[in-house]
Amino acid sequence: MVPSTSAGEDSWTSPGLDFLISVDRRTRGLGGALQQAIRDGIHAGRLHPGDPLPSTRALAADLGVARGTVVEHADPSSFPRQGWAAVMRRVLAEAPDEAFGYADPRGRPELRAALAGYLGRARGVRATTANLQVCAGAGHALGIAFRALAAHGARLLAVEDPSSPRMHEIAAGTGLDVVALPCDGSGARAGVLAGLGADAVVVTPAHQYPLGVTLSPQRRAELLAWARGTGGIIVEDDYDGELRYDRQPVQALQALDPGRVIYVGTTSKSLAAALRVGWLVGPPQLTGQVADVIRIINAWPSSLEQLALARFIETGMFDRHIRRMRGIYRQRRDLLVATLSQRVPQLQITGIAAGGHALVRLPPGGPGEHELVAKAALAGLAVDGLSGYRVGGVPTDGREQPALVIGYGTPAGRSYRAAVAALGDFLRAAYTPQTAPPSRP
Ligand SMILES: Cc1ncc(COP(=O)(O)O)c(C=O)c1O
Repeated sequence: MVPSTSAGEDSWTSPGLDFLISVDRRTRGLGGALQQAIRDGIHAGRLHPGDPLPSTRALAADLGVARGTVVEHADPSSFPRQGWAAVMRRVLAEAPDEAFGYADPRGRPELRAALAGYLGRARGVRATTANLQVCAGAGHALGIAFRALAAHGARLLAVEDPSSPRMHEIAAGTGLDVVALPCDGSGARAGVLAGLGADAVVVTPAHQYPLGVTLSPQRRAELLAWARGTGGIIVEDDYDGELRYDRQPVQALQALDPGRVIYVGTTSKSLAAALRVGWLVGPPQLTGQVADVIRIINAWPSSLEQLALARFIETGMFDRHIRRMRGIYRQRRDLLVATLSQRVPQLQITGIAAGGHALVRLPPGGPGEHELVAKAALAGLAVDGLSGYRVGGVPTDGREQPALVIGYGTPAGRSYRAAVAALGDFLRAAYTPQTAPPSRP
């Protein structure tokens, strides 16, 4: 960590690394806040001497702090093909022979070390090479976590309602019974948990999927109090924690109580789903069960991809890529919001401060959710209805305002603008009152 501080200038020599920072702008300026955040990071063991830091310009952009114009905005092609090819070439040239044999089921030590460092500084996660397990994506990690919980004696898993149908499938396949934990505008209603009798709960605190809200500080405290009071385990799915736009980063829940939280993450949103690389950071009491499940499943990402990702992180390329992706996603989000608001001002677009999807609440008086999704599909537009994310497929109270879940990560490149325009036109037509054709005399 080497600040190159010239008179009155708080700039940092760095390739733009990512780290978790919380700034209280009411009480101190950006420079003071940075210093405090760095001190806190060192005390908490998340930053170490020699760690490079992001430039204040990059941080300013991240935190929404005005500091002149931020001069990035980015190449729209998302996967860093050249960078990946460069690290993969180095891996192929330099990897020891043993890297081409059967792998350590926990993952390559190089990747576990790189991820532990990255997750510590970027998300506040308390990870070490000992408690970090490399998995083949978050879905794989969740399956491992649920199986390990079942082996530990858990029977009932509370699942956010609404949440990803994939999550329901994964849970159902692991021997746990599932119970719905309702969510509202502050995230999962943690206060309800005690009455559900669940042994464990799986949540998406940074960006609830699909509502897009952040779990409020009070709910975070309630969730942890439930876990501590009952011996319950929280599974934290941090599937898109790096992608945030208009808000300060939200520290991972795991950082507050590593003994009660299984932390799960993935490169699917930040880098590419095709890589199939994710991770799980588990509490000590589940280490044995996680190792057993991994041994039985006997599948993990290629060692070569793992080594490439380790190098990608170590060289700062991952942080730069994430920063670049934030710019790309932010632009795509802004275009979606501007286009839909202009075409159909009655739409309520929410959940857009982070991630890669928006929740679009539909106004009354138009077609129902199912009809709209079906018509959109016929028009070549893939959108989801919120009701498909209900645990068991049924809205809890049956009175919910219909809504669409719209991902803005695809289509790629230039096709995106046309797709968003087509979606806007489609919704405008759906919400424009039809005038009856003139009757014939
Ligand atoms: C809620 C949630 N968790 C996790 C994932 C990522 O899963 P994977 O890493 O297996 O691709 C997704 C992908 O869309 C998701 O929506």
